[in-house]
Amino acid sequence: MTSVLQARDLTRYYDVAQGWFKPKAQVKALGGVSFELSAGRTLAVVGESGCGKSTLARQLTLIEPPTSGSLLLDGLDAATAGGAELKAMRRKVQMVFQNPYGSLNPRQKIGSQLSEPLLINTDLSAKEREDQVRSMMTRVGLRPEHYFRYPHMFSGGQRQRIAIARAMMLNPKIVVADEPTSALDVSIQAQVLNLFMDLQEEFNTAYVFISHNLAVVEHVADELMVMYLGRAVEVGDKARVYGRPLHPYTQALLSATPSIHPEDRRIKIKIEGELPSPLKPPSGCAFHKRCPYAKERCQAEVPQLRELDQRMIACHRAEEING
Ligand SMILES: Nc1ncnc2c1ncn2[C@@H]1O[C@H](COP(=O)(O)OP(=O)(O)OP(=O)(O)O)[C@@H](O)[C@H]1O
Ligand code: SF4
Ligand SMILES: [Mg+2]
Repeated sequence: MTSVLQARDLTRYYDVAQGWFKPKAQVKALGGVSFELSAGRTLAVVGESGCGKSTLARQLTLIEPPTSGSLLLDGLDAATAGGAELKAMRRKVQMVFQNPYGSLNPRQKIGSQLSEPLLINTDLSAKEREDQVRSMMTRVGLRPEHYFRYPHMFSGGQRQRIAIARAMMLNPKIVVADEPTSALDVSIQAQVLNLFMDLQEEFNTAYVFISHNLAVVEHVADELMVMYLGRAVEVGDKARVYGRPLHPYTQALLSATPSIHPEDRRIKIKIEGELPSPLKPPSGCAFHKRCPYAKERCQAEVPQLRELDQRMIACHRAEEING
């Protein structure tokens, strides 16, 4: 399978002011993330608040350039792409945000918002654009006769369907969805997740699906990437990682998600303490202050991702812990 998305060692640092007369500090929001994604597949990205998920989303959707590292979208290199190429790349990757209301224009009718990408990027006539929009509205479970309604006239779930329709209008290769169901009622979440999955089957879109909730992600993911303080700590096939998590942080996250096969969870780990600040990340393994298995080496040496039991894992002691 050829990949539609290739990220190599993506980093993103932010300079932040510390107050008057103090030098600026640097937040390492993303400390070097790599992965590949094929058409029709879903990579789920999970981790606690502040671990860099949205920062990764902004790099993947070309909203912000990375500090370093490379990004290939459908074979095109974001760093060297010229104007026309960059425009083509932006069509190929679309984003769905957590809050659909924030991403829709409250004063524009939704039919016109949905046809905007077609107006900018295609030569379709007004009638053809309207037909396509109405057909996409039907496809995502909206009533096409609501074409002339404003966003506030829809429920939260329907607004997220509008946002998804807009992302799909140009048939992108990749959709990056950043917590797309977190703002919705639990009863609506499953419907929206099912819509994502149906659209993927129909259009063969690749998804990067971001969530802090492992129960949500289990439904949609093919691959899972667990992040901690800007880095991936475990990456692999969903069933393999859920079935037998090897990194202490993944084990802790899973044991804190009671809805996931609690009867199978042999390993119970509680995450103690606060998530450290990315302004002052701990030395060595960033998880060492909260990890029940931490030893001296963990404080001194950053564990690199390496292959173990058919997934990638960044932990010095993975064999001993899981032996
Ligand atoms: N523009 C910015 N300037 C300075 N710091 C930033 C900026 N954007 C993000 N950060 C910092 O980078 C880190 C990662 O933030 P990010 O928003 O990517 O996390 P997240 O995993 O999406 O969190 P959440 O689950 O709360 O959405 C945080 O410490 C955040 O404060
Ligand atoms: S490297 Fe050490 S501190 Fe980090 S997760 Fe593994 S055992 Fe825990
Ligand atoms: Mg976020």
